[in-house]
Amino acid sequence: QTNERESMYLVSEFAKKYFHTTLLNSEEGKAIGYTYFKERGFTAETIKKFELGYSPESWDALTKEALGKGYQLQYLDKTGLTIVKEDKQFDRFKGRVMFPIQSMSGRVLGFGGRILTNDKKAAKYLNSPESDIYHKSKVLYGIYHAKQSIAKLDNCYLVEGYTDVIQFHQAGIENVVASSGTALTPDQIRLINRLTKNITVLFDGDAAGLRASIRGIDLILEEGMNVKVCTFPDGEDPDSFAKKNSYDDLVHYLEHNAKDFIQFKASMLMDESKNDPVKKAGLIRDMVTSIAKIPDRIQREVYIQETARIMDISEQVLVNTLAQLVEKDS
Ligand code: CTP
Ligand code: MN
Ligand code: MN
Ligand code: MN
Ligand code: MN
Repeated sequence: QTNERESMYLVSEFAKKYFHTTLLNSEEGKAIGYTYFKERGFTAETIKKFELGYSPESWDALTKEALGKGYQLQYLDKTGLTIVKEDKQFDRFKGRVMFPIQSMSGRVLGFGGRILTNDKKAAKYLNSPESDIYHKSKVLYGIYHAKQSIAKLDNCYLVEGYTDVIQFHQAGIENVVASSGTALTPDQIRLINRLTKNITVLFDGDAAGLRASIRGIDLILEEGMNVKVCTFPDGEDPDSFAKKNSYDDLVHYLEHNAKDFIQFKASMLMDESKNDPVKKAGLIRDMVTSIAKIPDRIQREVYIQETARIMDISEQVLVNTLAQLVEKDS
């Protein structure tokens, strides 16, 4: 099915160019889409770099254009760019600003499309459906533009959203990719693992972001990688935070607030459980459970020592607990 996939890549590449050109050159695209990105603080250079686009407020603008250029309906259908119903065809992303999602090598796999309002009733982002070329659990938004920087700096910032990636680039930080709102997967982590062993998780400063960070930690440790976590003030995400701060302040914040996962877990729950032995015991068990995920034995021991120190508990107890957990695992 190489040819089918090739045709899907080709029509996706066409759609990316169509959306981008429409954003830059059509009256509607300029007035609505370009203005939207400008208001979010994106420069012309950024819009070009990420090939951001606009899908017109029309039932079938892209579909018609693509068919007119000789692309076949079956591939518009298979990539989800067009929704085919009986003898009618509709553009999936009508009236949205567009974020093309690229593979490590730069091929267009799919799209995220955002509505222009903050209307809570409509789904804010609509993404390409799963297809032969787009598997959302296996892609990381921004990996194409980040790979060099990740390898060079030997660290990868992991954020939640498209705009977090873009705003960081604009601020001058390029080693950043997004899980795009899905729960982080082992496949996504392995993509990063090809470039670096070090991940710093930068999820949104809200309850959902915190939960996602905690889940992410164990997955990253299981891949034998190192993980730090940096949280943002309540209600901020990397996009909004980067926009408000200078480059120096942003870098300073990241350097001073990125905690090793053990420190992160300890500080997160320590305040509330300090004087409660039952809660403290639960927290320690939780920390050891994460440590048990680390494949390397020496590294596990280093973390056990650190936990003993931070939590003020004997190493022996932790070693015993760890031994039980590791045994169960293997
Ligand atoms: N997401 C999605 N569908 C939604 C909401 C979110 O696919 N209905 C994904 C998007 O990839 C989004 C990411 O989850 O970028 C993070 O969600 P959220 O923090 O809500 O959005 P932001 O990226 O902050 O988007 P914006 O700043 O444009 O509101
Ligand atoms: Mn780059
Ligand atoms: Mn969020
Ligand atoms: Mn967000
Ligand atoms: Mn945001």
